[in-house]
Amino acid sequence: MKVLVVGGGGREHALVWKIAQSPLVGKVYCAPGNPGIGALAENVPLTVDDLPGLLAFAKEKEIGLTVVGPELPLSLGIVDLFEEHGLLVFGARRNAAIIEASKAFSKDLMKKYGVPTAAYDVFTEVDPAVAFIDKVGVPIVIKADGLAAGKGVIIAQSRDEAVATVNDMLSGNAFGSAGSRVVIEEFLVGEEASFLAFTDGKQIIPLASAQDHKAVFDGDQGPNTGGMGAYSPAPVVTQTIHDFAMAEVMRRTVDGMAAEGRPYRGVLYAGLMINGSDVKVLEFNARFGDPECQPLLMRMKSDIVPVLLGVARGDLSGVAIEWHDKAAVCVVMAAEGYPADYRKGDEIRGLDEAAAIDDLYVFHAGTAAGDGKIVTAGGRVLGVTGLGATVKDAIDRAYRGVAKICWEGVHFRKDIGAKALKR
Ligand code: AMP
Ligand code: GLY
Repeated sequence: MKVLVVGGGGREHALVWKIAQSPLVGKVYCAPGNPGIGALAENVPLTVDDLPGLLAFAKEKEIGLTVVGPELPLSLGIVDLFEEHGLLVFGARRNAAIIEASKAFSKDLMKKYGVPTAAYDVFTEVDPAVAFIDKVGVPIVIKADGLAAGKGVIIAQSRDEAVATVNDMLSGNAFGSAGSRVVIEEFLVGEEASFLAFTDGKQIIPLASAQDHKAVFDGDQGPNTGGMGAYSPAPVVTQTIHDFAMAEVMRRTVDGMAAEGRPYRGVLYAGLMINGSDVKVLEFNARFGDPECQPLLMRMKSDIVPVLLGVARGDLSGVAIEWHDKAAVCVVMAAEGYPADYRKGDEIRGLDEAAAIDDLYVFHAGTAAGDGKIVTAGGRVLGVTGLGATVKDAIDRAYRGVAKICWEGVHFRKDIGAKALKR
C-alpha cells in the first residue's frame, strides 16, 4: 500500500518513520515533508492547505491511506473531501476538528457532557469580559477562540495585563479573527500531561502517557512555545489518573461528540492539568501532539498502520497496541529567538555523529536543504529522541545526541524529563 502523510514537522517525521516500518506499506509520500523525512519517504511539494492539490495527488498515485498531521488541513475539511472521493484518510472531519479549532466550542462541550475543566465564560465584547475579570481576580487565563499555533493563551498576572489582552484580542490586533471571541477561565495549578487516544467514534484505545514542556526556558520560564521537549511514560499519570481520564474525559467526550452529530474519528489529544487526584482538561487537540508524537511512536511496539486503518475505516475492533517498556525522551533544538522572530539559514553540523548513536533518532522539524548542507528553517528545528531502560537513561541518551549537534544561535532546554525524575 502507498501512504501519504500530510505535514512537514517533527510529528510528521515520526509518523513517516513509524509507518515506513510497516510490512503493509510499500511506499510513503509526505507533503511537504522536510530533508529528514526525505531520507525515508518521497517529499511532495504541496502545502498542507492545498486541499485540491493533495486530493489530485492522492488519486493520481493511488494512495491507499492518507494520514493528516497538523490541525489546519483538518479544520479546512481535508478528511471530508478525501472521504467524498472514496479515499481512506486518518484524521478528524471538519465538524469534529472544531474541538481544537474553537476553544469556546470545546469548553461548551465539556460543560454539557460533564467533562472536568476550569470554570470559564466566553466573550465577544470588552465590557462584560472586564466585569468577569474583576469577579474572578488574577491570575486569570485568556484564550483566543480560534487556531493561533499554540500561542493564543495568555496567563495574565495583573488586572491591567488581563484588560489589555482582552482589548488586543477582541480588537483583532492579536491573532486576527481567531481572537474575535475569547474564552476567559480560572487559573489552575498542577502538573500537565498529554493524554492521547485513538478512536473510531465508539471504541477508544489510549496511547502511552506523555508530558510536554511548553515554556521556552528551563524551569518552565518564559513564553509558551509549541513544545520544547517531551517524554513518555509520564509518571504523573498514575493508573488511577489514567482510569479517570479514560472514563471522565475520553469516554464522555467521544460520546458527547457523537451525540452532537459530530462523530470523532482520529487521535484525540487532551491536555490535562493534574493536581493530586484532581484532573481537569486544559484543551483538546484533534491531532498528535508535537513533540509528544516523537517519544510516543518510538515507544510503540505494534505496527501503527492497522491502527490508522481501523480509525480511517471507522472500526477499531480487534486492534490492540503494545508498547516497549523503555522510556523515550525528545529534546527540541530550536532557533535563537523562537517563539518570537527567529534566525534562519544557519548550517546544522553534527547530524551524522548524532545518528550514529544507538536507540537515538533525530527527527527534523524546521530544516531545509541547500548546497549539500542542512540549514535551519523553522523555530523548532530538530527533535532529538532517545530510548532508555529508564527515563534517566533516555534523558542521558537524548542529551548525548544533542551534544553532537550545533549551529549558530541554537537553543534547547536542559531540563527535559526532570519532572519525571523528581517523582
Ligand atoms: P492550551 O492551548 O489551552 O492548552 O493552553 C496552553 C498552555 O497554557 C497550557 O499548556 C497551560 O500551560 C496553560 N494554561 C491553559 N489554560 C490554563 C489554566 N486554566 N490554568 C493554568 N494554565 C493554563
Ligand atoms: N505539544 C503540544 C501540542 O502539540 O499542542
